Amino acid sequence: MAIIFHESDRTFHLYNDSISYCIAVTKYGHLAGLYFGKKLRDRDGLSHLLEYSGGNQSPGLYEDGVEDPSYSLNEIRQEYPSFGHGDLRQGALVIGQKNGSRITDFRYVSHRIYDGKPRLAGLPAVYTEEDSEAQTLEITLRDELIRTDLILLYSIYNDYPAIARSARIECHNPEGITVLQAASACLDLPDSGYEMLELAGGWARECHMYCNPLRPGIQSVYSRRGNSSSQFNPFLALLRPDTTETRGEALGFSLLYSGNYLAQTDVDYRDVTRVTIGIHPDGFAWPLEEGQNFQTPEAVLVYSDEGLSGMSRAYHRLYSRRLVRGYWRDHERPILLNNWEATYFGITEEKMLNIASKARDLGVDLFVMDDGWFGTRNHDHAGLGDWYVNRDKLPQGVRGLAEKVTALGMKFGLWFEPEMVNEDSELYRAHPDWVLRTPGRSASKTRHQWVLDFSRDDVMENLYQQMSAILRDAPISYVKWDMNRSMSEVYSAAYPPEQQGTVYHRYILNVYALYERLRTEFPHILFESCAGGGARFDAGMLYYAPQGWTSDDTDAMERVSIQYGASVVYPLSSLGAHVSASPNHQLSRVTSIATRAATAYFGTFGYELDPNQLSPEDQAEIREQIRFIKQYRRIIHQGDLYRLENPYENNGEAAWICVSLDRSQAVAAYFRFRQHITAPLSRIRLAGLDPDADYKVSYCRNSTEPVELPFGSVGGDELMQYGLITSDSRSGIHNGIYPDREGDYLARIYLLEKL
Ligand code: DGJ
Repeated sequence: MAIIFHESDRTFHLYNDSISYCIAVTKYGHLAGLYFGKKLRDRDGLSHLLEYSGGNQSPGLYEDGVEDPSYSLNEIRQEYPSFGHGDLRQGALVIGQKNGSRITDFRYVSHRIYDGKPRLAGLPAVYTEEDSEAQTLEITLRDELIRTDLILLYSIYNDYPAIARSARIECHNPEGITVLQAASACLDLPDSGYEMLELAGGWARECHMYCNPLRPGIQSVYSRRGNSSSQFNPFLALLRPDTTETRGEALGFSLLYSGNYLAQTDVDYRDVTRVTIGIHPDGFAWPLEEGQNFQTPEAVLVYSDEGLSGMSRAYHRLYSRRLVRGYWRDHERPILLNNWEATYFGITEEKMLNIASKARDLGVDLFVMDDGWFGTRNHDHAGLGDWYVNRDKLPQGVRGLAEKVTALGMKFGLWFEPEMVNEDSELYRAHPDWVLRTPGRSASKTRHQWVLDFSRDDVMENLYQQMSAILRDAPISYVKWDMNRSMSEVYSAAYPPEQQGTVYHRYILNVYALYERLRTEFPHILFESCAGGGARFDAGMLYYAPQGWTSDDTDAMERVSIQYGASVVYPLSSLGAHVSASPNHQLSRVTSIATRAATAYFGTFGYELDPNQLSPEDQAEIREQIRFIKQYRRIIHQGDLYRLENPYENNGEAAWICVSLDRSQAVAAYFRFRQHITAPLSRIRLAGLDPDADYKVSYCRNSTEPVELPFGSVGGDELMQYGLITSDSRSGIHNGIYPDREGDYLARIYLLEKL
């Protein structure tokens, strides 16, 4: 890994064993993008990678009496284009000035290269533990006229094909400026031969994969909901048309931010593709006085020539090792049982203990009490904001229950929704001005609740006091932090008119600050983020909460698509996944407990049901499932994931495999949504195995009990090049001789062991 500055042609080359990222300072001092992709040899003379051309009707340079029609910013691939000076495309930076102008022109001043990687104050960021793990380049550009500096930060790691980027705007102008848009990263690519992959959906249908060819103009994903949203995840990837899961080029753009964002591709008339990602400019305006600065969130760019799964593995490794922090980064996650779908708001101490003790009996490590334990929270019309125990439900308080649960030999966890308030709550009656609301207008409700004005420090402080008092008082090992609505009427009574454009961003900064305070004070607590499922499932959150509740949809088959898509960026160790009751509460679909477990294994495994309601057979199954996952979760959470069959495209079949880093063991899953009569044999080509080794292959009866397939050993090369037939009657998997008779919603787990 190195960052080199070539004086001769003023080019920067950031590279490691897999990737190169190259930048040039142009002859007039602008910063141009040369290259991002597979590693190049380092040598003097990279600047020829940049094409200059005049361009008909493009503004050509004219300054100090010098006219250079061959130099137009509109025709140059730029690193961080600003508005109004010569680049007519949508850019990365817009700054409002006292005289009404928004035109800026930043030129190179200096740079700094150093070992390690800086933390970003108040913001999530990937990090290093030793300075030797990464190097950072800071390039300072200046607009002399408005006396403002732009600092672009680039970090490259030794071991990951990734570049972390962000920008800082420093105001030295006595008149002040207003940042109206500041992307985290912008990348101009020399052609448009890509498809854009996005993770989109809605509540309970998060992270479905959509891929569309680029075309001239803009395609974007975004959130203006105050959270990163279930509608679009803050991420996009560019794939060559022939890229598959295992082969071809993939470029990923992931934003470490949990609020409003915009990620877009813009193909211009010369087929240059511009990718920008950062805070959404709508509703954003950040005034800076002289001496103040604005730091953007970070974006992580990954390049892979090993297909989409290669890109995902880079994100998984980087995010699970150098974004997730604290004790839980390196420890096995507890198997939990959450009471939500078992009781909803109907909490009593007796019910909780009945569920917890049965759960313990089955091998569960952690009992989580969800919504309904506080204030007057008997339904979703009341109570949010009042974070003290409801003694009618829990006469001995949270502590009393937590101590009894702990005495059973398990851990205790608790649900909060700190950012919300019901009109029917003591908090609201005491502080009606603490709600986000525009003066003179009524504030919309969702789920009968309003959003607290977290941009205010006093609101954040109040919630800190309420939450920390409970966490201090009782033996609590886990917190689920929920957020059940999008924001609207975003206006703060605490700020003057010119600061209203800061409210969305201040809000999320204070959410981060509260998380940081709590995780510092209670380092043993495992935080799980949640926003009605996956509405704030993003890389920013992973810095504070090592796992997130992927979706409110707990149906096993729907979860195949959701988890398949989420795994494009996020490590399986971060995807909350539970076995729930059947029929499923969201869809009424009936699936076997084996199928439900097979999907949930590939996340942070748990249950969301009342085990007392299950048949003795299903209870026995649960015992086996917990034993099984404890034995194999290391491969799933710390190994490499290869997605094999895409549930969106393959006639309702899906498959993936997790392979241990030394390739000696693997756990594969195959899912079939619908059974067809006399269907073709289904063959999945595995990946990630050692082609020169032989493997013992077993399928798991009931998703728990390994039964060796009667083929003897199978070559890793055979499994990857020919494949594994998932419906072969010789295997004895089937009930009879007809492999077609297994029915719908089939899940099958395979274990592979190198011989
Ligand atoms: C939405 C969450 O996603 C659910 O798991 C549950 O915690 C409910 N909120 C509780 O209100």
